[in-house]
Amino acid sequence: MNNTVFSLEGKTILVTGASSGIGKATAIECSKMGANVFLSARNKERLEQTLSEMAPGNHSIITADMTHLEDVQKLAEEVSVLDGIALIAGINDKMIIKKIDDEYVSKMLSTNLSGPAMLVKSLLKGKKIAKQASIVFMSSVSAFYPSVSNAMYAASKAAVNQFAKVLALEVLPLKARVNCIQPAFVETEMIHKYSEETLSEIRSNYPLGRFARPEEIAYAVIYYMSDASQLVTGTSLVIDGGYTLR
Ligand SMILES: NC(=O)c1ccc[n+]([C@@H]2O[C@H](COP(=O)([O-])OP(=O)(O)OC[C@H]3O[C@@H](n4cnc5c(N)ncnc54)[C@H](OP(=O)(O)O)[C@@H]3O)[C@@H](O)[C@H]2O)c1
Repeated sequence: MNNTVFSLEGKTILVTGASSGIGKATAIECSKMGANVFLSARNKERLEQTLSEMAPGNHSIITADMTHLEDVQKLAEEVSVLDGIALIAGINDKMIIKKIDDEYVSKMLSTNLSGPAMLVKSLLKGKKIAKQASIVFMSSVSAFYPSVSNAMYAASKAAVNQFAKVLALEVLPLKARVNCIQPAFVETEMIHKYSEETLSEIRSNYPLGRFARPEEIAYAVIYYMSDASQLVTGTSLVIDGGYTLR
């Protein structure tokens, strides 16, 4: 094995959620591997901050709200033909089932599931997915490892996993591949809504002693985007420091 097989030189990759956390790390690390990156999220200033930290390349920013169908369609129209699509934008608002309402359910599902699904549909219809492209969905261990207050998030991520498998079948004519990554806690804004005390308690249950850094998830995206994974499709990679072993 040599390192060139992991190179993203000459590949054009769309990263959603590129303004923060895992998406930001993915945009930065993919640029270091040679990719040209379309960065998307809602917040232009934070996308510009990500861009300023990237290795040089032919990168562009396209703002889009995953919950607005017209934004999603515009994003699909504005990108060029893609060798890689990293669907990372997502939210995790906690709510016990007794309290959930239409607005909450709709926001969770549209951000985490139907937005990304409609984006893929628009890219397919617009012939923006290249032959042998790689599509990666950012799922979560929550898809199979339940916790209180997490029902809609868990349901959205479980649905993403199965959507990805069906998509993997439907893009076989393109020899494209579709995979998911399922992290447990990652050190991003998403988990910093918890107090430091709660985080320490949760961290103490992680067999390898810590949460993932965003770059450690980005490295898995690089594997899936690279030619090293040309025969890998319909899979899901758990990155959880051993958390779900127990
Ligand atoms: N952190 C974890 O512990 C963890 C664990 C497992 C899975 N994940 C998954 O990893 C992904 C990234 O999470 P993160 O931890 O990096 O969280 P984060 O730091 O909060 O980043 C979330 C990203 O999603 C974007 N986003 C949110 N709502 C959006 C919308 N309506 N339209 C477009 N973009 C939107 C945000 O950008 P704007 O606000 O600029 O729009 C931001 O770039 C999510 O899918 C999450 O479910 C995270």
